[in-house]
Amino acid sequence: MCGIVGYLGKNSALPVLIDGLRRLEYRGYDSAGVALYLENDIQCVKAVGKIKELEEKIGYYEIKSPQPLFTKEGNYKKSPQPPFNKGGSCLGIAHTRWATHGEPSEDNAHPHSDCSGKIWIAHNGIIENHKALKEKLEEKGHKFKSQTDTEVIAHLIEDIYNNELEKLKSPQPLFNKEGNNRKSPQPPFTKGGNNNREGLLTDSLIKALKMLKGAYGIVLIHKDYPDKIIAAKMGSPLAIGLGDTETIIASDISAIITHTKQVIYLDDGEIAEIDKNDLRIFNIDNVKIEKEIEEVNWDIGEAEKKGFPYFMLKEIFEQPESIMNSIRGRVMEREGKVKLGGFDSVSKKLRDINRIIITACGTAMHAGLVGEYMLEEYAGIPTEVEYASEFRYRQPIINKETALLAISQSGETADTLAAIREAKEKNALTLGIVNVVGSSIAREIDAGAYNHIGPEISVASTKAFTSQVAIMALITVYLGRQRQMSLVVGERIIKELLLIPEKIKNILGRNDEIKKIAQKYMNADNFFYLGRKYNNPTALEGALKLKELSYIHAEGIPSGEMKHGSIALIDGNFPSMFICPKDSVYEKNISNMEEIKSRGGRVIAIATEGDERVKEIADDVIYIPKTLEMLTPILATVPLQLFAYHVSALKGLDVDKPRNLAKSVTVE
Ligand code: AGP
Repeated sequence: MCGIVGYLGKNSALPVLIDGLRRLEYRGYDSAGVALYLENDIQCVKAVGKIKELEEKIGYYEIKSPQPLFTKEGNYKKSPQPPFNKGGSCLGIAHTRWATHGEPSEDNAHPHSDCSGKIWIAHNGIIENHKALKEKLEEKGHKFKSQTDTEVIAHLIEDIYNNELEKLKSPQPLFNKEGNNRKSPQPPFTKGGNNNREGLLTDSLIKALKMLKGAYGIVLIHKDYPDKIIAAKMGSPLAIGLGDTETIIASDISAIITHTKQVIYLDDGEIAEIDKNDLRIFNIDNVKIEKEIEEVNWDIGEAEKKGFPYFMLKEIFEQPESIMNSIRGRVMEREGKVKLGGFDSVSKKLRDINRIIITACGTAMHAGLVGEYMLEEYAGIPTEVEYASEFRYRQPIINKETALLAISQSGETADTLAAIREAKEKNALTLGIVNVVGSSIAREIDAGAYNHIGPEISVASTKAFTSQVAIMALITVYLGRQRQMSLVVGERIIKELLLIPEKIKNILGRNDEIKKIAQKYMNADNFFYLGRKYNNPTALEGALKLKELSYIHAEGIPSGEMKHGSIALIDGNFPSMFICPKDSVYEKNISNMEEIKSRGGRVIAIATEGDERVKEIADDVIYIPKTLEMLTPILATVPLQLFAYHVSALKGLDVDKPRNLAKSVTVE
């Protein structure tokens, strides 16, 4: 998830673009860039790191703190000429990056251009077939400057554009070899029928878009079109702000609403061609589309949180999209197989491993615990899960048939990094599931899979957890299909995984219902979270969420463990959250629930839709759609996230920045 901005208007583009990048920085902040139409050319500046690095590089705020012109020795100090004079350009695009393909670097920062340096684009999304397209373009002589999937788009447009241009230059002979009159087809790109180059760029983009697989939000400018900017959307968000004398295109309205409240939201498959006096929106078949202009009355804070009061709630509601981004381009449903590009380099070694140790901290560790059940049940690989903070102080028995799988959202958790280094010392193959591209853990492991869910801002991890469990399922199919797992089983898991985003939407629809239940229990001092098998880790995760957000003491326990001691704590003031879907351990869970009820304990149950029996036992029930047992933790965790969120918000606590916590724990 990156942030893109585009500007065409009568005012200076740079301030609007930089302001837009700052407002979109929460979407990604590992590198940034801007390209401006200046002095009949397009000039681009990129920088690694946060927007302020780019500003400094541009010398955007040099005025703020003018440097002394003379050095201490009295020599005249020639301050570097800012590449852009602020006044100059009225056309430009900019980008703040959340790397997916290619580590954060200046070359990989956007905007990207073609070989001629005429076509410049900024892109948010993932082009799944970029490798295949790149190979073809390289065969044609295109030279690539980055490792990104995005740069392929610029070269593809260039390739089509030049071919069409050739056709334009070389008029077709009227008669073909057989002497028949060659009714030369209408030049494909006419706007208003006149055969000129005006439409060439847009049509080259359309042709290129038809060859792309994946998700994109794109803004594009071309050196030969000083009054034109084009935008296209498929899967990634894109909005157009209509000012009196300017048009601003952005990934979301937080980069627009300080300039205008008149906004058009592009839908999938739509393209917007904007020039100084006209805005044309049409679909990929060049059919014009009438779009409604909406009045947005949000303040900026709201916009960055998309109208949600906290980033945590926004990230909970992003899970349908984030899960889809984690799966996208990685499943081959018909073959019942999974492709994980990041594992290809070690796929042979993975065939030979006979043991997996999963290591992580906090929420990531709970995702690992779900993965343990999956890998043993479906891939038949002996698996253990270790707290990373304990791992290196134990004498772990490791050999080269052992793979260590580290899980980390931030990729900077010191304990997890140390555990990886420990395992590497012992020749283990080190793998990882990481969200932050280019992070220390991402660079330390031998192979891995990125979550592709964009930045997780709220300290309490939510969308990272469900994505980590989804990727554990992908890894299970990947390794399972290398072993005994049948096509049918692989296909079944993939089918169910692809249905998860819609099922999460269904649960998010119960938000108000869950809030009411949270109101009922928000003053509890203690809470048990109980689950069995795949949902034992879910109970641990639910308890962690309530603890870190509401400061209520909560304990996650395997349901079957209660009668071995903890049940002594049960009374009317010690409620329990029971994760009890209709799965292979349902009956066991039901009897454990009755044990608690019979001792006066209050119970909230997470149950499968249509399960009337659980209603007779539990005080409150939150229903989730049915899915494969191994995937129920993804669905069952969402109501637990919402419950903890509402208890914290109802208590008036700082949901996004709970006391005593940090988003990334970089110390041991
Ligand atoms: C979870 O809500 C917490 N923020 C914390 O437990 C977190 O999961 C843990 O610190 C691991 O972080 P990581 O995934 O970035 O390595």
